[in-house]
Amino acid sequence: MSAKRKILVTSALPYANNSLHLGHLVEYVQTDVWVRFQRLRGHECIYVCASDAHGTPTMLRAEREGIEPEELIAWIAGEHQHDFERFRISVDNYLTTHASENEELTSRVFRKLVEGGHIGRKMIRQAYDEHRNMFLPDRYVRGTCPACGARHQYGDNCESCAATYSPLELKDPVSVVSGTKPTVRESEHLFFRLGNFEEELKAWVPDHVDPAMARKLKEWFDAGLRDWDISRDPPYFGFSIPGESGKFFYVWFDAPIGYMASFLNLCRSAGLDFEAFWGADSTVELYHFIGKDIVYFHTLFWPAVLSGAGFRKPTGVFVHGFLTISGEKISKRRGTFIRASTFVRHLDADYLRYYYASKLGPGPDDIDLNFSDLMAKVNSDLVGKLVNIASRCAGFIHRLNDGVLARELPDDALFAEFAAAADEIAADYNGRNCAAAVRRIMALADRANRYIDEKKPWIMAREDDQRDAVVAVCTQGLNLFRTLILLLKPVIPGVTGRAEQFLGGGELTWADVKEPMLGTRIEEFKALLKRVEADSVEAILSEAREDAALPTTQATRAAAGSEAGQVAQPVETAPAKLVEEIDIEHFAKMDLRVARIAAATYVKGADKLIRLRLDLGDSQRTVFAGIRSAYVPAALLGKHVVVVANLTPRKMRFGTSEGMVLAAGPGGKDIFLLSPDAGAQPGMPVT
Ligand code: 2FM
Ligand code: ZN
Repeated sequence: MSAKRKILVTSALPYANNSLHLGHLVEYVQTDVWVRFQRLRGHECIYVCASDAHGTPTMLRAEREGIEPEELIAWIAGEHQHDFERFRISVDNYLTTHASENEELTSRVFRKLVEGGHIGRKMIRQAYDEHRNMFLPDRYVRGTCPACGARHQYGDNCESCAATYSPLELKDPVSVVSGTKPTVRESEHLFFRLGNFEEELKAWVPDHVDPAMARKLKEWFDAGLRDWDISRDPPYFGFSIPGESGKFFYVWFDAPIGYMASFLNLCRSAGLDFEAFWGADSTVELYHFIGKDIVYFHTLFWPAVLSGAGFRKPTGVFVHGFLTISGEKISKRRGTFIRASTFVRHLDADYLRYYYASKLGPGPDDIDLNFSDLMAKVNSDLVGKLVNIASRCAGFIHRLNDGVLARELPDDALFAEFAAAADEIAADYNGRNCAAAVRRIMALADRANRYIDEKKPWIMAREDDQRDAVVAVCTQGLNLFRTLILLLKPVIPGVTGRAEQFLGGGELTWADVKEPMLGTRIEEFKALLKRVEADSVEAILSEAREDAALPTTQATRAAAGSEAGQVAQPVETAPAKLVEEIDIEHFAKMDLRVARIAAATYVKGADKLIRLRLDLGDSQRTVFAGIRSAYVPAALLGKHVVVVANLTPRKMRFGTSEGMVLAAGPGGKDIFLLSPDAGAQPGMPVT
């Protein structure tokens, strides 16, 4: 094995304005498998992450929730951290980019860039929302594409013809924030002179970025490196730029500095030497795991900023592809926005970790999650092959030898075969080819099962004089199982932790690959992992559908991405189109009633719902209403509302919803319950 390496690893920082979904987890699982593997090999590998707190989407969502941005990021970052724990993502530190360490480092970096002559100023013209008194990020302006005439396009590119343009070129532009027509205003902005680093970056790229990505970078170099706008005008949620009045750092300027900040925060609690990791002469390996949408930031801006500020550059930037679910992009509308917390409420995180690992190669290819495939793979590989080895052998060891393993292996060569394969598997893990590692491990699991099939200990055990031979065969089987567990430790830490306990030899280390476990006692075998049942999968999918059906705030939708890239659909505020005409008979089928809200409570685990107990005069019923972003329960008590009383009851995770209360508005704070005039009594039909 190579000498002990010193490694610092990061994953991209998730925005602090929305929940983690299964797409995010591709990256965290990939990073965590790599980190756990390095630690298993005995290297020092530190992994830090944080929530990306700043920017317009955070500001707007906080506004809609009626809370301060600080409160929003504390809430969401707490949720992110909890998801990390439940998915066994072994970060050493988790911060937010709003932390004081980040402000300190961002100022330091900026000062250095100014001193180095890397910051310039320019006047720019930008779309401005007069109604909200704010400049509009590109994605917050929508209108008609100037190239092809397609309507409702974003301010920076057309989804219909792929043209790129400035929001000022859009025809009939509309501010997504207020629904009004933006004006154009000028403002002076600060720019980072990326071009100053062109030669340095060109020299750095080939040895630090994957060849497929290096080709993409060549295109960017050929197109010319443009200055990068790093400032924003108020109102903006971010750090003020020192020495400037009323200017804030653009979220993408301080976000990667958040990697350093999270590490600095760890240094302060764990006594590590910050400069040894980030100083210009550092010999520590530094790797960033990212998605393919943020390559420009990480392979051009970021190394240039680091260099300009006198810090070291990354050793490598590892790029992965996107996740599709049954071939579909992740979107609430399609029901493919599956929260991390939803998955883990119904299934063990190791199932998803194993599934992703079995698909992840070293490159930026997209991967697809198909739940039937996940179920088949986990049940066949982990339950049917892996755990089966232990369950086939453990009983005999207990029955025939009081739980104690034999003192010798009957087939040393087979054990050595597994040890030899472990070297290749290590190379796969190190090269981030998890799919290849998993394939090899499963081939070994097949080999182990074949060994047991050939020896047939259950037949041998019928003969009294075969007792030692059975114990020997099962000792062999359990040692092969132990090697497999060791090899899978980076991928399924929950299962392997339970298996280590069963094997009774403490935590496995890489050296155990060559050392069989002999003459020691194992524990009683308990199922290490349950099969994935279709019910659990259905529960996940139905919760995702429920999520999709609830009103989503304008800000929540806009906040799903960044200002810079991948922003999810901002809602349109133009009046909704009328739906298809119906006749009076159709309308008469709806039984609308006046109801009095007799009780209203929050619903634990549902951040959009309020549980209403409705009094309809001669009966009461429960309705779950997606109005939490606009109402507090106390304000609802005694209020008269209109309810659709003959709607088929809908089973939800929290109980059954027996109807629907009527409300107007696009969502968020803008939800308005309909009430009858004074005098209407509970139970009265609305006609
Ligand atoms: O694209 C994103 O989700 C960003 N929040 C990633 C930031 S990574 C780093 F630069 F902070
Ligand atoms: Zn177009």
